[in-house]
Amino acid sequence: MKITYYGHSCFGVHTGKHDLLFDPFITPNELANKIDINTIPAEFILVSHGHQDHLADLMQIAQRTNAIVIGVWEIYVWVTSQGHANAHPMNTGGRWHFNFGWVHVVNAVHSSSFPDGSYAGNPVGFVVQTEGKTFYYSGDTALTYDMKLLKEVYKYQFDVVFLPIGGNFTMDYHDAVLAADFVGANKVVGLHYDTFDPIKIDHEAALATFKNAGKELILMDIGSSIEI
Ligand code: NI
Ligand code: MN
Repeated sequence: MKITYYGHSCFGVHTGKHDLLFDPFITPNELANKIDINTIPAEFILVSHGHQDHLADLMQIAQRTNAIVIGVWEIYVWVTSQGHANAHPMNTGGRWHFNFGWVHVVNAVHSSSFPDGSYAGNPVGFVVQTEGKTFYYSGDTALTYDMKLLKEVYKYQFDVVFLPIGGNFTMDYHDAVLAADFVGANKVVGLHYDTFDPIKIDHEAALATFKNAGKELILMDIGSSIEI
């Protein structure tokens, strides 16, 4: 499984056969100005919630690729109302089997509205099981005891988890260490940091905090890929 970072909370996951994309927010992100959104592959686009910093480039990428957009009911209604019929509605707690594997929609503690302020349903995270790998993409969330449920359900199966570490709008990297513990994971890819002033972090301090807890934090360069 190949993971490519496009900045902020946007990741591409190439499973070997399929291309998934999470929370496309690229063109408004100065840190990601070397990324050309017209070259990003996507067969499925998973959207955690309606905030601008998670879907700014959604419609453009969805329409170019004709990707299936996966999100809660309100995200589905918004996407289809903008003329993109290829979407699959889900909601918190639901599981669905797509051609690449299972998606499980899980709770996130945050808020959610569309850029015009209208209601976007509940914010969520996703657990994805595909081609022998299991990962959790939390979306924007606080640290919450609900994460312990994922350890109960998935029994330490996570190969990697994607967690926010920037603080202010979400949990910070201190809480993310606990979140990794709650879900039963040791390998964490950081998201939602450095993009805006209130979420700028000290990379060395974040890496050391995870290391001291016996866990691995991966801070990817924008545009780079890793194999998990
Ligand atoms: Ni948000
Ligand atoms: Mn956000």
